[in-house]
Amino acid sequence: MTVRRMVVTGSSSGIGRALAVEAAVRGWVVVLVGRDHDRLHAVAAKLPGSRHEILEADLSTSLGVDIVASRLRDEASPCAGIINAAGLGTTHPYPFGSFDDEKRMIRVNVDAVLALSQVAAEVFCLRGSGVIMNVSSTAAYWSAGTYAASKAWVLAATQGLAAQCKSSGVQVMALIPGFTRTQFHTQSKTDASGVRPWMWLTPEEVAREAFNDLELGRSVCIPGKRYRLLVGTVRHLPPAGRSRVLRWLAPLAPQSSE
Ligand SMILES: NC(=O)c1ccc[n+]([C@@H]2O[C@H](COP(=O)([O-])OP(=O)(O)OC[C@H]3O[C@@H](n4cnc5c(N)ncnc54)[C@H](OP(=O)(O)O)[C@@H]3O)[C@@H](O)[C@H]2O)c1
Repeated sequence: MTVRRMVVTGSSSGIGRALAVEAAVRGWVVVLVGRDHDRLHAVAAKLPGSRHEILEADLSTSLGVDIVASRLRDEASPCAGIINAAGLGTTHPYPFGSFDDEKRMIRVNVDAVLALSQVAAEVFCLRGSGVIMNVSSTAAYWSAGTYAASKAWVLAATQGLAAQCKSSGVQVMALIPGFTRTQFHTQSKTDASGVRPWMWLTPEEVAREAFNDLELGRSVCIPGKRYRLLVGTVRHLPPAGRSRVLRWLAPLAPQSSE
């Protein structure tokens, strides 16, 4: 039987971890990517099957990106898919945070996705098959600082890549989750307690819908009917109107340090 290997960045936690589990359940052998050794091994131990791999890589560095790119290029045990799920936010909105934090976020959310999607597209297009899934966010539709801009880039670039790869046999999909219960907001020291309770998704429902849509051949997946309705409505508003709706539905603030 042919082994189908899927590289999943950000698979030590949250949405990436749920996507890795869902991939394994659906028969993929998963290459887990992250920085946290213990968490990666804990995820690997829970995956069905025993052939999974672990790559420790800091995607804010060129060395980390090269480690994953080399794995994608390794034709001795070829990878047939990549999910770029690694990502982070910052505590303070632009321009009130640290410039270094903003740059680190862009290196992971944009530069690493750009580099790894490009390598995957080259390898998969030559082979005439493969899957590229990039994790954007509903933040792509709001005007809310550098994080939103990074996710708007992921969405636009992934849609462009999907158009370029049409007829190549390579499937490209942008995954656009709304608020999802993960470590994301704790990591970025953001108080998300004001977000309306109905807006929260679980990583597992995001991952299930992502793979359902992938298997249906879709190029965009917005998990949750409520988010499809919300995005369908607000995308027609001018940017200031969209931001007002977002601030009303989901007020975010830096966590207090007490
Ligand atoms: N949670 C939400 O509400 C939400 C909504 C929409 C979109 N998203 C997007 O979903 C994706 C996953 O986020 P999440 O919610 O699952 O957050 P999370 O639980 O904090 O997971 C983030 C993942 O990214 C990895 N990561 C962060 N910095 C990294 C670096 N420098 N190098 C390598 N890996 C790094 C982390 O792995 P290590 O710590 O092991 O390195 C971790 O596995 C992100 O792209 C995020 O923007 C999240």
